[in-house]
Amino acid sequence: MFFWRIQLFAVFVQYFIDKCKTAEPNIVILFADDVGYGDLGCYGHPTTSTPHLDKLAANGLLLTQFYAGSPVCSPSRASLLTGRLPPRTGVYPGVFQANDSGGLPLNETTIAELLKTVNYQTGMIGKWHLGVGENQKYLPTNFGFDYYFGIPYTHAQCPCVTCFWPRDSCYGSCKPYFPGCPLFYNDEIVDQPVDLLTLNEQYANAARDFIAKNAQEKKPFFLYYAFQHCHHPQFAGKKFRNSTSRGVFGDSLAEIDWSVGQVIKELKQQDIDKNTLVFFSSDNGPSIQWKTRGGVAGLLKCGKGTTYEGGQRVPGIAYWPGMIKPGRSMELASTLDLLPTIAKMVNGILPNVTLDGVDMGPILFTQDKGLRDTFFYYYPQSRQDKGVYAVRYHQYKAHYYTRGASESGVENKDKDCRPSAELTWHNPPLLFDLNQDPSELYNLNSLPEYNVLLNEIHQIYERHVTSMKWAESEINKYKDPKLEPCCKPGCKPFPSCCQCHKLGHSQSLTFK
Ligand SMILES: *[C@@H]1O[C@H](CO)[C@@H](O)[C@H](O)[C@H]1NC(C)=O
Ligand SMILES: *[C@@H]1O[C@H](CO)[C@@H](O)[C@H](O)[C@H]1NC(C)=O
Ligand SMILES: *[C@@H]1O[C@H](CO)[C@@H](O)[C@H](O)[C@H]1NC(C)=O
Ligand SMILES: *[C@@H]1O[C@H](CO)[C@@H](O)[C@H](O)[C@H]1NC(C)=O
Repeated sequence: MFFWRIQLFAVFVQYFIDKCKTAEPNIVILFADDVGYGDLGCYGHPTTSTPHLDKLAANGLLLTQFYAGSPVCSPSRASLLTGRLPPRTGVYPGVFQANDSGGLPLNETTIAELLKTVNYQTGMIGKWHLGVGENQKYLPTNFGFDYYFGIPYTHAQCPCVTCFWPRDSCYGSCKPYFPGCPLFYNDEIVDQPVDLLTLNEQYANAARDFIAKNAQEKKPFFLYYAFQHCHHPQFAGKKFRNSTSRGVFGDSLAEIDWSVGQVIKELKQQDIDKNTLVFFSSDNGPSIQWKTRGGVAGLLKCGKGTTYEGGQRVPGIAYWPGMIKPGRSMELASTLDLLPTIAKMVNGILPNVTLDGVDMGPILFTQDKGLRDTFFYYYPQSRQDKGVYAVRYHQYKAHYYTRGASESGVENKDKDCRPSAELTWHNPPLLFDLNQDPSELYNLNSLPEYNVLLNEIHQIYERHVTSMKWAESEINKYKDPKLEPCCKPGCKPFPSCCQCHKLGHSQSLTFK
């Protein structure tokens, strides 16, 4: 009897060992656009409707000090995928346009490339915004993604017409002189102009298909799912038009939230939710210039485009039932940290380059102190002679330069946020204690008790500035209308002739 029990026990142990051996964790990164620190229900917004994200936060880890790599889109996305600050990748100043010849340099190593070396299936859905270029050489399929389905930039870089079900127009005309928004399947345009009323659903269906296929084939996968929402102009299909009390921004955000619910539902249906890390964040702070049609930074100062907290501190939610203990964390972390964290999780090899990210494992898995004690804020226009604008060191933040931004609103009631707030040098730097003063209201730099701290921060600043190697700017490379993605190259009259509908509307592309 006793012997029999030991044998049974041994069988169980072997079963769990096998299960652990074969089950490399899946990784899903959900990345919103221009969603600010104060926009989600779980971050305190009173009229937003984000039940699925709130549930993710309740059953996962909500980070209160989580930073995007840049206060604007393209450099932020480059930072997330490479673990490197914008000057190193050359993705500055500003963002890529549809006519740009530059892109994320092909010699950069992305999370997808890292995961390919350990046999992951890799897919990207949604907004890329790291270039298209000649012969479409900068599309995701050239950066380690086996599969791509999405628009390679923001839908504001197309002539938007219909944004709300059933046929309501978009607010503003976006960029009427560019071709219609191209929807790519790998490196082929399958729909142009894209139908914004069904786009969100098409993305979500593609995500579910990708998850289901890999789960059924028992292959570990990485899904990078970057929403077009909630970048201007807001849009929403039948399900979500007028669905929230927060207006058009709320309706767009509700589409994101529904998509997050779809992803979690599929992970559960495939019984892989306990073997999948899901991480939700946003590329930068809110685009306050759009007023009620834009997001909010909550209690943080200013928004998109600036190096104040509202520009770069964003929601960060990590979810992995059984592996990540539900709660809140005040530890400092960044999208820059995802690459090193994932490398560690899968026993992957870090690229042989200078990384600006650190492993977040201690914060996520053991509720320990994080490994990051500094964060460097780069203004999206920064030139080599200005470099880093602000330095965070533990709970303190020193602003060496400040400047407003058009995205943060010409009429923002805080004048520091407006584009009219010109580049200003601060010597000594403005100093804030972000634990006691998250809104950056009370400058401490004249108090003698902070002299030692200011000196310490200044040494960190000097070391960082002198060691930073600036890559050549990719965004300053030439622009040419011929590079604008068109499904009928050479057609006339350009760009209105760029029209193809290889997918029926409302029909998703089945993942092959
Ligand atoms: C990529 O190539 C460029 C140009 O040769 C070089 O400046 C840069 O350092 C390289 N980057 C990496 C990550 O190797
Ligand atoms: C949504 O609300 C707007 C503003 O109140 C209204 O003009 C529009 O007809 C509504 N649309 C639908 C589909 O309910
Ligand atoms: C890493 O890069 C450095 C400098 O580019 C080079 O000297 C070194 O040999 C590389 N190490 C490996 C393991 O490839
Ligand atoms: C490229 O696009 C930008 C942004 O819309 C526009 O300002 C610029 O004139 C265009 N340049 C060329 C050469 O097409």
